[in-house]
Amino acid sequence: MTEDRTQGATSQLDRRQVSRRHVYGRRRGKPLRAHQAGLVEDFLPEISIDLPEGEGERLNPASLFVSAKREIWLEIGFGGGEHLIDQARTHPDIGIIGCEPFLNGIAKLVAEIDGLGLKNIRVHPDDARPLLEKLRPASLDRIFILYPDPWPKARHNKRRFINQETLATLTAALKPGGELRFASDIPDYVAWTLAHIRQFNAAGGPRLVWAATCPADWRTPYAGWCGTRYEQKALREGRTPAYLTFHRE
Ligand SMILES: C[S@@+](CC[C@H](N)C(=O)[O-])C[C@H]1O[C@@H](n2cnc3c(N)ncnc32)[C@H](O)[C@@H]1O
Repeated sequence: MTEDRTQGATSQLDRRQVSRRHVYGRRRGKPLRAHQAGLVEDFLPEISIDLPEGEGERLNPASLFVSAKREIWLEIGFGGGEHLIDQARTHPDIGIIGCEPFLNGIAKLVAEIDGLGLKNIRVHPDDARPLLEKLRPASLDRIFILYPDPWPKARHNKRRFINQETLATLTAALKPGGELRFASDIPDYVAWTLAHIRQFNAAGGPRLVWAATCPADWRTPYAGWCGTRYEQKALREGRTPAYLTFHRE
């Protein structure tokens, strides 16, 4: 792989990453290895999602998969893709979409998809918000938001992914009965999310109903949980995760 090709791969991706809003956090880290850069250039476009451009046009996520899928799931901020890959391997009958703006995480995921020959993943290598806004209403069965960037300083709280606007688009994209999974190791972000969902529910329209009936429900990882890289770090550093589940009414 020549240096030109490595640069070509990443600048091609940069052209895709024209988001309307600012994405806080890193877009890229260390230079990609040649193999990863080649896959980003050649293979990523095959599994990437083209968002419809016309006003009012909506994307039916089920149409992204060659064979019919039992359900369609979305993971927002997949990081290095460990959880997404595990879900895709263990649920070949589910179509899974992953969103992530961090190039090195995207490259890692793409290399795993290629190496394992997985056919049930599609990637939006960018900010999840424009994708959410373009999705056909009530078209997703499950959304994962696992360890979103915590932005712990009070002056940075407004950068958090959960807010009234994203709750509206997340809820609209879920089917009635569809599930939102939110995990975090930051108690303040857990409280923030519960408070924002309470406020969202009070505004009328479809609600997100917290499924917990006792503390064990949010202290216990999801069934079949493989963990995430960020979670491992949190556990090593002595933090306790909360695993929240909501259902769209
Ligand atoms: C703390 S990391 C957690 C990554 C992974 N979920 C894990 O648990 O290992 C949060 C991730 O969310 C991504 N992210 C931040 N803003 C995002 C957005 N608007 N859309 C999609 N992903 C986003 C970041 O790039 C980062 O990889």
